[in-house]
Amino acid sequence: MVVRKQIDRRQDELLKMRERAKQGGGAERIEAQHKRKKKIARERIAAFLDKGSFQELDQFVQHRSTDFGLADEHYLGDAVVTGHGKANGRLVFVYAQDFTVFGGSLSEVSAQKICKVMDLGMQTGAPVVGLIDSGGARIQEGIDSLAGYGDIFLRNTRASGVIPQISAILGPAAGGATYSPALTDFVFMVGGVGQMYITGPDVIKAVTGEEVTHEDLGGAFAHASRSGVSHFSHSNEEDCIKEIRRLLSFLPQNNTEEAPRQPFLDDPETTDPELGRVVPDNPNQPYNMQEIIKRVVDEGDFLEVQKDFARNIIVGFGRIAGGAVGIVGNQPDHMAGVLDINASVKAARFVRFCDAFNIPLLTFVDVPGFMPGTAQEHGGIIRHGAKLIYAYAEATVPKISLLTRKAYGGAYLVMGSKSLRGDINLAWPSAELAVMGAEGAVNVIHRNEIRAADDPEKLRAKLIEEYRERLMNPYVAAGRGLVDDVILPAETRPKVIRALDMLRNKREVLPPKKHGSIPL
Ligand code: HXC
Repeated sequence: MVVRKQIDRRQDELLKMRERAKQGGGAERIEAQHKRKKKIARERIAAFLDKGSFQELDQFVQHRSTDFGLADEHYLGDAVVTGHGKANGRLVFVYAQDFTVFGGSLSEVSAQKICKVMDLGMQTGAPVVGLIDSGGARIQEGIDSLAGYGDIFLRNTRASGVIPQISAILGPAAGGATYSPALTDFVFMVGGVGQMYITGPDVIKAVTGEEVTHEDLGGAFAHASRSGVSHFSHSNEEDCIKEIRRLLSFLPQNNTEEAPRQPFLDDPETTDPELGRVVPDNPNQPYNMQEIIKRVVDEGDFLEVQKDFARNIIVGFGRIAGGAVGIVGNQPDHMAGVLDINASVKAARFVRFCDAFNIPLLTFVDVPGFMPGTAQEHGGIIRHGAKLIYAYAEATVPKISLLTRKAYGGAYLVMGSKSLRGDINLAWPSAELAVMGAEGAVNVIHRNEIRAADDPEKLRAKLIEEYRERLMNPYVAAGRGLVDDVILPAETRPKVIRALDMLRNKREVLPPKKHGSIPL
C-alpha cells in the first residue's frame, strides 16, 4: 500500500512537471506574447503538426548557469520546445523557440536540444523546421551560448542537400539567431512580427549614426523585397504555418527519395488553345509568364518562391501529372525578363535546391539578355550570372525547357539550354533564338552600309525585317538539334508530361570530386 502511494505520488509529480513546463516563462509573459498577436511555442507546434501527433523531447532540460543571477531562475525545457510529429502524414522534426523564457535566447542547453532534433532528422531522413522567436545568444552565458550557435551552424551545413530545412521567423531573430535560418533552404517571415538583423537599430545608431526602425531594418518586407533573405512572407502566423505545410507537400523527405506523387484531376492529353493567345504579336510588348505556368501545372496550383524579390524571374513549385517540378521562368512583365544579379542568384539557388532533392526542372524562357550598365558590371554580374550557368550545368535532374519568345545570347545559353545538357528543349513557333535582338545585330553587322545610305532609317528598318525573317525563329536551332521539337502552344502540357515521363529514370553522374567551386 505504501509502495502504491509512492508510485502515485511520483506519477502526480510527473504530471505537475509537465504542466509546469507548459507554463514556459509564466502566465504574465504568455499574456504579453498573445497581446503582440504572437502565439507561444507549443501553440505554434500544435498549429503546424497533424492533430495530436507531437512527441516532445527534452521537456525537463534546464540550464546549468549560475552567473548573473541565473542560479535562481529555471524553466523546465529552457527556451525552446523540441520534438517530432507528422505534417500531412509525414515525419518532421520541429523546434520552436519560447520567447517567454529569457526572450527565446539560445543557451548552451537549448542549443543541445536543437542539435538533438537536427541529428535525429539526419539519421531518419526527415525535414527539420525551426520556428524562430529569439533575442539571440543568451547574454548571461557568453561563450557557451556562442559555441551552441556554432554547433547548430555546423549541422545546418552538413544537413544541406540531405534533408529539407525550413525556418519561420515569428518574432525577433537577432544576432546569432539569423545565421541558422540563413543556412536553411527556405525562410518564412510574418509581417510586423518577424524581424531579422545582425545588429539592431541601437547599435547601428551608435556606430554609424543612421536611424532606422526594427521593421524597416529587418522586417518581412525588407527581407522579401530587398535583401532576398526570406522566401515567403505572410501577414499572420496561421497563414505562414499553413504554407510551410504546403511547401513540404512538394518536397521529398530527403535526398534519396522523390517528392510524393499526388492524384490530379486534369486529363494529361488535354490541349489548351488559350496558350496560343498569351504571347503578343509585338515582340516588345510584355505579357505575364505566370499565365503560361498556371495553365501548364496541375490545377493551376503554383507555389511561388521569393515572389517579391527579383521579379524579372519567377521560381516556384508545381506538379505535372501528379509529380513535383521546380519551375523557373523569365518574367517579360517585369524589366522585360532581363537577367540581372538578383535574378541570377535567385534562380541559381532554386535550381541547386531542386537538383539536390531530385525535383525535375521545367524552365520557361523569354529572355532578352543580361542587364547592361555599370551598376550591374561593377556589382559583379559576371560572377553572379556565372552562378546560374553553373547551377544548370551541374544539375543532373531531368531538365526541360520551353522557349516562348526571346532567347538571346548568353542569357539563352544560361536558361537550361541544350549545351548545358537540357534533356528536352521545346520551342513555340514564336521563339526567337539569336545571338542578340534584330535591332542590335543589324546596327553591328550593317553599320557602314546604314551610315552610307541615302535614307539610313529606311534601310535599317528593311535590314531588321530581313534579319528577323531569316534568323529570329526556332527552326535554325531546331535544324541543328539544339531544339528537340517545335510545338504548338496548345500542345505544351501533354508534351511536357511525355518528356517528364520519358525522363523519370534518367541517370547522370558528375565526375568524382569533393565538391565544385561555384563562383560565390
Ligand atoms: C538573455 C534576453 C535576451 C538575450 C532578450 N532577453 N534577449 N535574455 N539573452 N539575448 C530577455 C529580456 O531580458 C527580457 O527578460 C525578455 O527576454 C524579453 O525581452 P524584452 O527586451 O523585454 O522584449 P522586447 O522589447 O520584445 O525586445 C526583444 C529584443 C530585445 C529586440 C530581442 O530583447 C533585445 O534587443 N535583446 C538583445 C538582443 C541581442 O543583443 N542579442 C545578443 C546578440 S549577440 P524579462 O525577464 O524582462 O522577461 C549574438 C551573437 C551570436 O547573438 C553570434 C553568432 C554568430
